[in-house]
Order: sequence, then structure tokens, then C-alpha cells
Amino acid sequence: MDSNFLWWRDGVIYQIYPRSFADSNGDGIGDLPGIQSKLDYLVELGVDALWLSPVYPSPDVDFGYDVADYTDIDPKYGTLADFDSLVEAAHQRGLRIVMDLVLNHSSDQHPWFIQSRSSRDNPYRDWYIWRDPAPGKRPPNGWQSVFGGKAWEWDEATGQYYYHMFCREQPDLNWRNPRVRQAILDVFRFWMERGVDGFRLDVFNVYFKDDQLRENPRRLGRRPFDSQVHLYDCDRPEMIPLLQEIRALLDSYPERYAVGETFLSTTSKAAGYARPGLLHAAFDFSFLACKWDPAAFLKTIQAIDSQYSQDGWPTYVLGNHDVDRIATRYAHGEDDERLKVLAALLLTQRGTPFIYQGDEIGMRNVHVPRAEMKDPVGLRYWPMPVGRDGERSPMQWSGGAHAGFTIGTPWMRLHANAPIRHVESQRNRPDSLFHVYRRLLRLRKELPALRGGMFLPLNYEPRSLLAYLRKDEGQTVLVALNFSRRRNRLVLGGGLARSGWRLAYSSKRAEYTAPRDSSLLLEPYEALILVQQ
Ligand code: GLC
Ligand code: CA
Repeated sequence: MDSNFLWWRDGVIYQIYPRSFADSNGDGIGDLPGIQSKLDYLVELGVDALWLSPVYPSPDVDFGYDVADYTDIDPKYGTLADFDSLVEAAHQRGLRIVMDLVLNHSSDQHPWFIQSRSSRDNPYRDWYIWRDPAPGKRPPNGWQSVFGGKAWEWDEATGQYYYHMFCREQPDLNWRNPRVRQAILDVFRFWMERGVDGFRLDVFNVYFKDDQLRENPRRLGRRPFDSQVHLYDCDRPEMIPLLQEIRALLDSYPERYAVGETFLSTTSKAAGYARPGLLHAAFDFSFLACKWDPAAFLKTIQAIDSQYSQDGWPTYVLGNHDVDRIATRYAHGEDDERLKVLAALLLTQRGTPFIYQGDEIGMRNVHVPRAEMKDPVGLRYWPMPVGRDGERSPMQWSGGAHAGFTIGTPWMRLHANAPIRHVESQRNRPDSLFHVYRRLLRLRKELPALRGGMFLPLNYEPRSLLAYLRKDEGQTVLVALNFSRRRNRLVLGGGLARSGWRLAYSSKRAEYTAPRDSSLLLEPYEALILVQQ
């Protein structure tokens, strides 16, 4: 591999949802030793870094996204010694570790909040956002919580409201307090000293709220939260100096990284935060909004591409622990053909691709009946289908009991397809989705143009076929994706047709012979990648 390879820019990041990845001790909950036991699998797959969803002590109101201690490991996941051992084992294999830092809010069980709510004159009072009631004991303003209800929670004991953008058990930290700032910067240091390579910053762009608590303008929306334009509780300018401070701290260690989870993300917003001096990257979720339509994907890629000049670096996301599985959104039944097309799309973009655990074997959402629901969002809005349990079911490793995830009782039900859809079976089938991911991940390593090359579309109004070049000074790669279940022809311009191409990858053919005329015939759902010789 070339020496310019920078892990977070040129590599691919794999998201682990620790609770559901691998259970080592039979308590039905995934854990750190479980993750360590699967590192060779991740090397075999070919990813470069692991992002761990939160593993800090947490009462699990929001499954780890409510942190009760930022510098420890929850006993259900293991110990700090297990963590050190995981980092070491990962580094030995060339894998980087990205921690999820949830710094907009803590758990209401965090000692800081327990202190803060204990009395008005407690030294920690100002670590959270407390306000007097409006006349009639009403909340200080009309801001809403994302997870339902008002964003203000009344505290009878001290006669004030505190602010929570998410659940009421997730009070927002007061980032305007310099002591909070220092304490949190120390959290970054703590994990970097333990060898952590990067951070995923949970909803970083809501750390600051308007200091005058101005009302958000109204709009039409499904839920109360969506019925406001989030002018004053999101993307406040005060956060810029903070991001700069975080960046400077990261830059004081070698090759450290931060990717922000852009809340209410748009392409221009994400690009604005992924700039030199700010974050290395910020999630752009616009792929998630694309239907099964090559024109929609092309438009999205072009929009992203045009927002990033040389000094910014995009991200591409097709799945995570907050949205329905890729397979559930796009595939028909148990058929994986469309997922192979999407794997090729994701892994041939100019930007860092993120893979959510299990998507490489096409896991589907599990249907979780109301009585088994765990996700606070699912419970709050039931029967609206907005819950997130479905995409968080245990990883399907083998055809054994509980898909090899646990020898105990899994914390959440497995998918009914687990006996047939699992890592072991896909490993043994060269044409499986797993091998598609594996081959494409290898190819991205082999072909520098697939990582850093320009994106140049070949057809501008695609109906069923998306084709583009990735091109740098030394190499041209052609990617053609047939979104249709019919054969499709891609007409190449004269120059392109005449140049000699070598087959780098196809989900449908083993050999490539140059066509006689200047058109390429693609098989149904074929993903074809050619390299100029
Ligand atoms: C982020 C996380 C989500 C969590 C929320 C609150 O959006 O991805 O899982 O519920 O933040 O922390
Ligand atoms: Ca366990």
C-alpha cells in the first residue's frame, strides 16, 4: 500500500453496535472481548477502522447514548483492561479504533447531573441548562425534544426547568461553562492517551443553544419537533471556536480524527463543518434519502462532490443504528442483487464510506413486537414505525444457536432468517454479498483512483444505469451499475470505447472482452468495474 495512505481518508470505517456484535460470556449482551474475538473477521472483510457505539457506563435509557461516566467502561461490556487489550489487538492488525463521544448530553445518572440537580447553589448547577419557569410555571420556551414532548423538564425540588434535546434522562450539558469545556477536553485526552485513534461526535452541532432562548419559527411537520425550524437550538455559531479547540487538541496527537454526526444534516451543512481547522469529517446522510433510482444517487453524489474542494473530505453512509437496514429499504425479500449494486456504489465514491455491522451480509430489520420493544423512540411513538430496534438485532455469525451471537439468551430477538443468513454461510459462497464487500474493499485498496480520483459521470440522466469514471493523474477507473433487473446497454464515447480496459470487478462475469461497437452490455443488476490498461 502506498505510504500516503491516511487511514480515515483512504480507509473504510466499520460501525460496531457493541450490544449486538458478539457476546463472550453468555449474558446475552455483546461485549469488548466479543469484539476482540472477531477482529480477524474484520481484517478478512478488509475494513480499516472500527467505530464503537458507546461502551461507557450507562443506564441504557437510550442504549449507551446516555453516558453516566465518560472515562470508564460499562461492566456489561467489560473493563478498561479489556478495552486496552482490544485497542492493542486492533492495532496489531492495523485496525484503528474510533470511540463514540456523546457530549451534547449526559445521563441523568451522571454524578455531574446528580450534583447539579441537588440544589441551586451546588457547584455543578451550571454544568447543565437550568432556567426559571415562565409565568404560570410554564416551560421557559417552546423548544421541543427530538424524542417527544417538550425539551424542558420541571424539577420540583429546585423549582427550575432543565433542558434536554433527547429523552428527559439525557440532560444537555452547558457548553458555555468553561469548566464543562475543560472536563470534556480531558475526556478526549483520556481516550487518546489510551491509544484511541478517533472520535465520532454524537450530535455535535447542537452543543450550543441560543443564549436568549429565542423561539424557533414554525413550519408544518409530522411530530412537534419537526414542526419547528431549528434556528435557535441547532447550529449556533458559538460552537465554531469549540470545534477549533477540539481540532487543535486532536492535532497535538499524530493521525487523530473526528467525524461529527451532523444533526438535521444537509450536504452544505456537513461540508461546512468538515473543513481544515474544524472537523476532519461530518456525516452527510443524503444517501439515506435516495430511493432505488440511479438519478437520485447521481444527483446526491454531484451535490456532495461540488461542496468539497481539495481541503474537505466527504463521508458516505448507507446505514447505521438509527435507520432501517439497507436491505429493508431496498431489497426484495431475501434477494441480495440490489445490495450488491449498492455495495459497489458505496465503495467507489470519493469520500470515506461507512459500513454498519451486518450490512455486509445483508441483515434485514427484525420485526419487534410492542412487548419486546426497547428503543425509547419506538416506544414513545408506537404504533408509528419510527423505532430503531429493528436495525439493532444481534449479528448473525453462524447457523448455530442464536446465530453464534451468544450461548445465553440474546437481549433482543434474532431475525427469522438467521439460520440461513450468516457470516459462515456467506464465507463459503463466493458469490455472496459478503464476498462482494470483500472484493470491493480489496479493490479500493489496490486502485488509488477509487479513493482519491475525481468523480466524472458518464450519463447525466440515468434511468436504470449509473456510470462514472474515477480518475486521477495515473489511473482511470470506470464504474457501471445496472439498477435494473433487465440487461442494459451503456454507450461509451469514441475515446473511451477505444481505450483498452481490464476487468477489475464484476458481480456477474469472470472475463471481459472489449465490445465490437462502442457499447457495453450489462447483465441485470450487474456492477462492473474496469480499469484502463
Ligand atoms: C445520535 C445517535 C442516536 C442517539 C442520539 C442521542 O443521533 O446516533 O442513536 O439516540 O444521538 O444521543
Ligand atoms: Ca456479554
